Amino acid sequence: MKVLITGSNGLLGQKLLHKLRVDNSVDLIATSIGENRVSEKSGYKYISLDITNKQEIEKVVFSEKPDIIINTASMTNVDVCEDKKQECDTLNVDAVKYLSDCAINIDAHLIQISTDFIFDGENGPYSEDDIPNPLSYYGLSKLKSETILLESSCRWTILRTIIVFGVAENLSKGNIVLWAKGALEKGEPLNIIDDQFRAPTLAEDLADACILSFQKAKYGIYNASGKDIMSIFEIVERIARHYNYSTKNMNRISTTTLNQTAGRPPRTGFILDKAKKELGYNPHSFEECLSIIEKQLNN
Ligand SMILES: NC(=O)c1ccc[n+]([C@@H]2O[C@H](COP(=O)([O-])OP(=O)(O)OC[C@H]3O[C@@H](n4cnc5c(N)ncnc54)[C@H](OP(=O)(O)O)[C@@H]3O)[C@@H](O)[C@H]2O)c1
Repeated sequence: MKVLITGSNGLLGQKLLHKLRVDNSVDLIATSIGENRVSEKSGYKYISLDITNKQEIEKVVFSEKPDIIINTASMTNVDVCEDKKQECDTLNVDAVKYLSDCAINIDAHLIQISTDFIFDGENGPYSEDDIPNPLSYYGLSKLKSETILLESSCRWTILRTIIVFGVAENLSKGNIVLWAKGALEKGEPLNIIDDQFRAPTLAEDLADACILSFQKAKYGIYNASGKDIMSIFEIVERIARHYNYSTKNMNRISTTTLNQTAGRPPRTGFILDKAKKELGYNPHSFEECLSIIEKQLNN
């Protein structure tokens, strides 16, 4: 089975790369924009691919003819998406159309990653059937990408996820656990919102959901987040407790005091029953995730 990953330099991309490069049943093609920043170079072929370039995608996909395409590349900074709507659409929407058209052509299974930000956060946790109502351009762009697949005749799976975190090398952005751990370690004063609720997701768990969906040939929409729903404040508090850092410099603040460019849904979280039943998805508890990360950082 030939699997092509986009965005292989990113957090989810790297986790997929490391899981699949050692799978003898998989012929792995890792692609990302620019040079390969993953130090392990064996067990896969790397091709530099900017997925906003239709001709480049066609060239790579039609020559490699993968059975599976996992699209992890995306513009994920919510406030940047709000300010740069055109760029956001180019990567989060147009590229998905190019990939799905190529997937039709070679009969590939396309796996796309979506987000809890397609919802307004008034009625979380959400099931796959709940009605989206994004509050941000990022959320809208990811919803548009879902619509492209809903209207496409290719075989597709959409995995919706929430705050992805984990340890990887040479990432172009941070994630909540590594950020909070670093700040708590230094004892810096931390202002943390306590009125937004999320189910943070270990990148390895999301990678497993991707792999399960192609191994089991499951199509359609699946929720694939962590299983513990907490306020952002509680997430950081649990990180502090886990690593034995003091919580005394942690201050609770509300979302309105931050004045962020893009709107954020107050309460998301996902009902995971469908993914558990049909994919066999079994994410770690947040506590287990912190132990996994601790081991990885110690190595
Ligand atoms: N992170 C979250 O909290 C979160 C929450 C909900 C949903 N999601 C979704 O989960 C997916 C994976 O997220 P992630 O955290 O793994 O993202 P990430 O770490 O930002 O990885 C995305 C990768 O795509 C690469 N990329 C950027 N533009 C590209 C282009 N034009 N062509 C090809 N590659 C390009 C980036 O390259 P550089 O490294 O060079 O910048 C990066 O390596 C995304 O679809 C995201 O929307 C993420």
